[in-house]
Amino acid sequence: MTGFSADWLALREPADHRARNGDLAAALSARFGQTTPLRVTDIGAGTGSNLRATAPLLGREQHWTLVDYDPALLAEARRQLRAWADDASEADDGLRLTKDGRALHVRFREADLARAPEVIGAQTPHLVTAAAFFDLVSADWIPRFADVVAQTGADFFTVLTCDGADDWQPPHPDDAAITAGFHADQARDKGFGPAAGNDATALLAEAFGRLGYQARSAPSPWLLDGTSPADAALIAALAAGTAGAAAESGTVSPNGADAWAQARRGARSCRIGHLDLLATRG
Ligand SMILES: C[S@@+](CC[C@H](N)C(=O)[O-])C[C@H]1O[C@@H](n2cnc3c(N)ncnc32)[C@H](O)[C@@H]1O
Repeated sequence: MTGFSADWLALREPADHRARNGDLAAALSARFGQTTPLRVTDIGAGTGSNLRATAPLLGREQHWTLVDYDPALLAEARRQLRAWADDASEADDGLRLTKDGRALHVRFREADLARAPEVIGAQTPHLVTAAAFFDLVSADWIPRFADVVAQTGADFFTVLTCDGADDWQPPHPDDAAITAGFHADQARDKGFGPAAGNDATALLAEAFGRLGYQARSAPSPWLLDGTSPADAALIAALAAGTAGAAAESGTVSPNGADAWAQARRGARSCRIGHLDLLATRG
């Protein structure tokens, strides 16, 4: 398992929600805002952040399936969604929630998407979605995944896929070495084969385009301000994680990575590049 912690997902959630591209969110809402009931499958759902940000864009009755292979994260998703909703009750196979006048039925499905992407089609979704997931998958898995989505007839919306357009201020002499090490680590196999990393969005656009979809991508960077306590906490975690990944890749020494992380904790600002993508059937 890639082992994402619920604490890390909670720390990044406000920055994630703020970063999502407004134009693509509006396009999604124009397409599905009046569709009811609407079936949505969220893959690599973690603790449910993508549902919390996307549900307000969609129709009044929504049926969500949250897929993840980490049972602890799915249990935390259930807990957090109950707390987020205006009203919540247990349903036989999940939760029934109301939030801002919308009715949401949420199911939780534990599955390894690397082995069995077919689970995505099980609920014949109108929409397949994911957040902060696609840089983990491989270039080989992407067309396989796109085929599964196309066979269900669903549209596809993904947000917050890394694109490598990162910028830390002020500059540090070891930025280039750390970035090289971090990108090498990003390409490691995360269970799907060598990870597509920063190329994932272009590969998704190509795969869906070949299947007759219209694919649009647009930027959704984290823009973090070191003077804000919430952003500073995310910057500190990011600095430690980036330095650790770079050191593991072997392109920088552990001491060099530590020194960079120490300096980076005090960064004035930090931009971490992401892209969102909406692929719709004609
Ligand atoms: C960076 S987290 C993003 C979580 C959530 N979408 C969010 O935006 O907070 C990536 C998620 O993908 C899940 N994941 C990674 N590999 C997976 C696999 N092979 N099958 C199912 N889920 C996987 C992880 O457990 C984790 O929840």
